[in-house]
Amino acid sequence: MPQPTGTHTETPPAQIEPVAADRTRLVDSHCHLDRLDLEPFDGALAEALADARQRGVEHLLCVNINLEGFEQVYGIARAHAGVSASVGVHPSETEGAEPQVDQLTRLAARPGVVAIGETGLDYHYNRGDLEWQRDRFRTHIRVARESGKPLIIHSRDAREDTLRILREEHAEQVGGVMHCFTEDWDMAQRAMDLGFFISLSGIVTFKRAHQVQEVAARVPLDRLLVETDAPYLTPVPYRGKPNRPGYVRYVAQQVAALRGLDLESLAEATTANFYYLFPGAASPPPTSPPEPLAT
Ligand code: NI
Repeated sequence: MPQPTGTHTETPPAQIEPVAADRTRLVDSHCHLDRLDLEPFDGALAEALADARQRGVEHLLCVNINLEGFEQVYGIARAHAGVSASVGVHPSETEGAEPQVDQLTRLAARPGVVAIGETGLDYHYNRGDLEWQRDRFRTHIRVARESGKPLIIHSRDAREDTLRILREEHAEQVGGVMHCFTEDWDMAQRAMDLGFFISLSGIVTFKRAHQVQEVAARVPLDRLLVETDAPYLTPVPYRGKPNRPGYVRYVAQQVAALRGLDLESLAEATTANFYYLFPGAASPPPTSPPEPLAT
């Protein structure tokens, strides 16, 4: 293993560095641990998780984006305490296998799988006739209802269709989270009316993200979650570098500041919301061996 470069110096603002008596309890409600840049951690995921823990992150939801990657995501959740997994195929994934209701439902039944997604619609990245994307989205909502597990929704440039399909497929029966929320207050309200939570990412720390900051200030505290979407969307003060779950602390700090709260209170509320929405994440990590590969 090559020597770490030594250029990875960390000088975060002193007031949000964890201290010995720190009681901040955070959850990273959405990250991709199978895609992290592990170079600063000598290639060890366990080190990245230790880094997160040191910053007050007690649980992480590792989100699946394609069927080919599910076993790795699931394996990470099983191998590490305080990590749970989702199952789903991202709306922008075009290379891999198309998910079927039966197959996803079977995978969703495994211990440690607490959510369905990420799913949704992305009309920014994909163009043309996107009926296949809407079909895939409906498949996931059916799986969520079948399995009784909440949805993780990705929606980009597709707000009306996202809300319409959620309504048509009765997603309000399971609820879930609008992940990496970047829309306006009107969309936030309409999503909350359907029983969804609003999760904010590092985008809320960006200077010009006024719309998201307004949402961050207005969403009722009992509907809020925080996430990194690591390795993407790194918050200030590390914007431009690879993201890591520990940086959810900067997201939470910014949301707290926008609401006139201290970090510890914001963390406590969003962490309680997470366990309420994903009750499967609150149970102890599974100890039985995984069932044979069913994909
Ligand atoms: Ni994601």
